[in-house]
Amino acid sequence: MSKTIPDDVIQRAAKLREQIAYHNYRYYALDDPEIPDVEYDRLFRGLQELEQDYPQLVTHDSPTQRVGAEPLKGFAEVRHAIPMLSLGNVFSEEALADFDRRVREGLGVEEVVYCVEPKLDGLAISIRYEDGLLVRAATRGDGTTGEDVTQNVRTIEAVPLKLYGDAYPAVLEVRGEVYMPRAGFEALNARQREKGEKTFANPRNAAAGSLRQLDPRITATRPLTIYCYGVGVVEGTELPDHHYAILQQLKEWGLRVCPEIRVVRGMQGCHHYYMEIEDKRDTLPYDIDGVVYKVNSLAQQRELGFVSRAPRWATAHKFPAQEEMTILENVEWQVGRTGALTPVARLLPVHVAGVMVSNATLHNPDEIVRKGVRIGDTVIVRRAGDVIPEVVSVVASKRPPDTQPVETPTHCPVCGADVLQDEGEAVPRCTGGLFCSAQRKNGIKHFASRKAMDIDGLGDKLVEQLVDAELIKDVADLFALTREQIAGLERMGEKSADNLVAALKQSKSTTLERFLYALGIREVGESTARTLANYFGTLDKVEEASEEQLIEVEDVGPIVAHHIHTFFRQPHNREVIDKLIAAGVHWPDVEVVQAAEQPLAGQTFVLTGTLEAMPRDEAKAKLQALGAKVSGSVSKKTSAVVAGEAAGSKLTKAEQLGVEVWDEKRLLALLNEYGVGD
Ligand code: IVH
Repeated sequence: MSKTIPDDVIQRAAKLREQIAYHNYRYYALDDPEIPDVEYDRLFRGLQELEQDYPQLVTHDSPTQRVGAEPLKGFAEVRHAIPMLSLGNVFSEEALADFDRRVREGLGVEEVVYCVEPKLDGLAISIRYEDGLLVRAATRGDGTTGEDVTQNVRTIEAVPLKLYGDAYPAVLEVRGEVYMPRAGFEALNARQREKGEKTFANPRNAAAGSLRQLDPRITATRPLTIYCYGVGVVEGTELPDHHYAILQQLKEWGLRVCPEIRVVRGMQGCHHYYMEIEDKRDTLPYDIDGVVYKVNSLAQQRELGFVSRAPRWATAHKFPAQEEMTILENVEWQVGRTGALTPVARLLPVHVAGVMVSNATLHNPDEIVRKGVRIGDTVIVRRAGDVIPEVVSVVASKRPPDTQPVETPTHCPVCGADVLQDEGEAVPRCTGGLFCSAQRKNGIKHFASRKAMDIDGLGDKLVEQLVDAELIKDVADLFALTREQIAGLERMGEKSADNLVAALKQSKSTTLERFLYALGIREVGESTARTLANYFGTLDKVEEASEEQLIEVEDVGPIVAHHIHTFFRQPHNREVIDKLIAAGVHWPDVEVVQAAEQPLAGQTFVLTGTLEAMPRDEAKAKLQALGAKVSGSVSKKTSAVVAGEAAGSKLTKAEQLGVEVWDEKRLLALLNEYGVGD
């Protein structure tokens, strides 16, 4: 006898199905999910639980009975001879223990050997090879029927069009994850932004959007790659009888397999692996959202079999989500050193990956418009690694009726001066200059920072206290501070006052490049400051240079030249500089080597991988001392890429572009030739 279903349960199930169907559509068909994965999982589990309690609720079209959405129009359908399954999830150590117990009991063994893998955050693909040739590639679709994306997959360089060697099976369907490495994703978004086109919220959306292009020429420009993690149909050859061994075999056929995959014993081994990968997560060059545990023995896998949508012999262990949903309560504007106004989202506090987040950046007004953010909206916040949390998108379906637009202020929230946004500039600015205490504070913080004057112990809070107490107005006032004045501040004792006085004294002896950088001239970063110092040699010459002369300097364009020139034409700035010098700030003149006289002038190097003889920073400084530029990315203009141990994508790029590749020996020989080798 089945129990009758209460009305409210019927309604809840219907509502959940409607929501799941809507979000499936956003996620699968549009590649534009509206809610974080955790939220979707919650809805899905909610429905599963209802259906477990009332099995009569299960209908043929329930989302729990069908993974994914219908194929998009435009791609042919492909039926998978062996279905592409999904994975069950565990979210805790206890749930992992339950999984392991079920497996052990199912097999009647004491301990199970698992193959453990990162759970890659891309999209699943099945690629069919006949007689070693790639004949078809299909997405997972609903698990039974996917979309034919052969043309697109053929454009992914990591996918061999022909299997390596000659011992491959007559038919091999290999399964894996197509994904976009983080660096490629950042570069793609930067390109999209430049072209004024749509950017992607995360690497997975970018990979999905790229693979679903109807025009393979577009896909070809997208930095997609693949890791293989399984097989479907195999005919004509016996494969090894353990999962891990099969993956090794795939590698031998030229297919890419993730290097983090291991074999471990029991749930202890699984748990260790989980922690190890979680630790490594931020340093991996691609996004993962958990790990996958698979029973390694195929005989045992067969014995365990499947439940409706997933194997009993595998499960995913998800990391805490990096994206969460919360309410945008307000937007405040922060004023930077150069007056730039940055919108900061004040959020209803929410835990994201273990940290309470109540503020997130909204970048600039254009981004607010692009994302359509309004105050009162439900938004998705993302926190990954060390980066500042950001508002990723709005959950449009949760918008209440009374949201307010975010308006760029017309007056500085700190000093009240006019706010102006120059044409072609992404950021609005406060025009208050040094009259604005926010600009002053940030200018002083910058001056004291490690790469500038490096004043030990002069942290942000202290700068704010000093300015608020009106003990300093500009950076030169720092050097007139007495230990009594400092010791009188809250949270400062005599000892810390002494330390700060000593640090200030020590910082007076500096270098021209640090000093130029410390001044905080717009667009003059460390590297421009260094170039200016080396080119002009003395502060006087930089101060007196005309815009035309400044443009002569490598890497200084008309805009930067204009900023530098204008800076030194402000009487106030000249006064502060004079005061600094009068206070004893000094540096040795720089021996000017005319660019053309430097042996490596005009050459650009890229350093990659680990160098044995010296840290990369040191090699970089030495190359720069000889007049070379050292860049972080490889282009056709690169003179040579120096590849150390474990060099990665930059080496590949150099090979693709036909750029010369040097080993470390050759670099050392060059440095020795000019006497800077050691
Ligand atoms: S195995 C029978 N291994 O996760 C098991 N899947 O939730 C089939 N995924 O559709 C999948 N990394 O897109 C497997 N190392 C990995 C994976 C992985 C990511 C994805 C894949 C699959 C989904 C299942």
